[in-house]
Order: sequence, then structure tokens, then C-alpha cells
Amino acid sequence: MTAAVTKPLVVLVGAPGSGKTTVGETLAAGLGVAFRDTDGDIERMAGKPIPEIFVDEGEEHFRALERAAVAAALASHAGVLALGGGAVLAEENRAALIGHTVVHLSVELPDAVRRVGLGAGRPLLAINPRATLKHLMDQRRPLYTEVATATVVTDGRTPDEIADEIVTLLKR
Ligand code: S3P
Repeated sequence: MTAAVTKPLVVLVGAPGSGKTTVGETLAAGLGVAFRDTDGDIERMAGKPIPEIFVDEGEEHFRALERAAVAAALASHAGVLALGGGAVLAEENRAALIGHTVVHLSVELPDAVRRVGLGAGRPLLAINPRATLKHLMDQRRPLYTEVATATVVTDGRTPDEIADEIVTLLKR
């Protein structure tokens, strides 16, 4: 007898401002499954908000917590899972995503900047959010593409429209 394998129905990846949390919550509600977000798991693990982790322990420590959170969530969450925008930077996380249904929510700079605003709650975007976001997006675009089994364009679209497209993809 083989043991039952728990894996997310779908994993959402994409840049900050691609709508992973909003779309993920909409999608999970529509499918009647739970939504989980590795950023939330990290905050629970650390007992403090992400900006405080960056200030107190630094980005390296945050990335270590993130690798642990990604591995744990991929092995235990059966619903919709959103990863933090920088999770794909770690080779370990990219390797862990192999075999999963991974949707890249793609976004171009204007919409990402509009959605992120002044970067509140996102320590990497605390200074000059537009230029930093452009740099992050240019650096990470190939990594999102590498891990994704499908890409959904989010620019100019509502969370409902994006979630509907993902539901259609999942039915295939
Ligand atoms: C980060 C994105 C954030 C969060 C952390 C680092 C990044 O998540 O994980 O602030 O490196 O881009 P969102 O993609 O939800 O903003």
C-alpha cells in the first residue's frame, strides 16, 4: 500500500504586486479549499512581522526561514499555496517545486508598482520601490518561468478573472 501524498492543488509564484495573495484567496474560496501563504507561515515561525525579521536578523535569516516554510508547506498543504516573491531565488526551493502544479502570475512594472504602492510591509521595497521592483523583476523573470507549469497574465485584470483562468487551467 502506498502512503497518501499531500501536495498543494496549485502553487502561485510571481513578483511582489502580481496578486498572489489576493488571487490565491479568491481562488481558494471559489474552489472551497484552504489558502496558505509562506510569508504568513514565516511570520508565525518567527513570531514577528517580515519587516522586523529583516531589521533584527537580516535577509539571510529570512531566506533560511523561507526555505523551511516552502518545504513544510509543499509537503503538508493540500489547497492553494502562495510563495513569497523571492522564494524562487533559492535553488533548493526551485528543485522542491518540480512535480507540482505551479502557476506564475505574470505582471509588468506599471501594474506591479500600482499594486505595491509605497511598499508597506515589503522591506526590500522600502527605498525607491519602482527601481527596486524593476530590478527584482528583471532578475527573477527567468526563475519564475523555470518553475512554472503555466503562466497567467494579471495586468489590467481583476482577481476574479485571474482566478477563473486558473480554475480552467486546473481542469485540463
Ligand atoms: C519578498 C517578497 C515578499 C516577502 C519578503 C521578500 C521578495 O512577498 O516574502 O518581503 O524577495 O520579493 P510578496 O511577494 O508577497 O511581496
